Amino acid sequence: MEEIAKALVAPGKGIWAADASPKTIMKRFQEVGIQTGENTNKRFRETLFATDGLENYISGVILNDEIIREERLRNLLTNKGILIGIKVDKGTVDLENFPGEKITEGLDGLRERLAEYKGIGAKFTKWRAVITIGENIPTHVCIGLNVEALARFAALSQEAGLVPVVEPEVLMDGKHTIDEGEKVTFKVLSNVFTELAEHKVNLSQMLLKPNFVHHGKDCLKRASDEKIAQRTLKVLKETVSPQVPGIVFLSGGDSAIEATKHVDRMNEIGGVPWPIAFSFERALEGPAMIVWGGKDENIEAARQVLLDRAKKNSLARSGSYSESMEG
Ligand code: G3H
Repeated sequence: MEEIAKALVAPGKGIWAADASPKTIMKRFQEVGIQTGENTNKRFRETLFATDGLENYISGVILNDEIIREERLRNLLTNKGILIGIKVDKGTVDLENFPGEKITEGLDGLRERLAEYKGIGAKFTKWRAVITIGENIPTHVCIGLNVEALARFAALSQEAGLVPVVEPEVLMDGKHTIDEGEKVTFKVLSNVFTELAEHKVNLSQMLLKPNFVHHGKDCLKRASDEKIAQRTLKVLKETVSPQVPGIVFLSGGDSAIEATKHVDRMNEIGGVPWPIAFSFERALEGPAMIVWGGKDENIEAARQVLLDRAKKNSLARSGSYSESMEG
């Protein structure tokens, strides 16, 4: 598992989160004007998984339950040496008695599902918890329940021989300042690592998938890219064990260019014990989705756009990206 975890954050590489739930991906298609049908997501995945050269920048792809069952789609990735991951949580629901807060479901039957996914070739897993910042939230109950679920997910994944990607996402939604974003991210990550230790999770056999420390998207006071990179590194240094083999960021609603810039700047600053990599969904596949538009005549163009984003994020892994590379 340690080797798989290290391979996922090998120099110049990162993870592609192609794991949006059927409901979420349909929403994303509709937002960019793509006519949706039963097979739209399978067509989208087939289009992009067949991109030549993807393996130069992408170490692993996280799939959802629908896509991992498609042998043809899995083979497009594994034939390139790309590792298969699976999102194993079942999404979020409202947390009873705690308005505005969410809990992630999916622990029931997880041991059996993990064995099944392992049997069809999965090498790693992902579980996403979401924490919302607002008036009097997050509460300690919400944080406590979510970090406990993350720790149980991680322990069960390791029991099955699968590398867990632990994703506690402090959402960018809201009006909070970067100071509040920092405070909450610190609290959440501290709790995550306390809980992982209590559940005897092997920290050298997992990856952490955190948010950038960020202002809320409705905050009038926007933090600079420099501040986002500095504050994110500060919180990671204060909370994350050096045993963890790598950090793979989610993009969280930042544009593709912003997300690449954050990873690039953090790598330029350096001074941390972990590889700083990416595990983007929207910031990686979003531009390609727009170019594809659901039309076969755009397949090649969409592949080139995906490859271009993957390459720029690969450059960001060594702090070698520059915004001037954008067309
Ligand atoms: O669960 C969310 C994905 O893993 C990351 O998505 O990069 O669009 O935030 P994102």
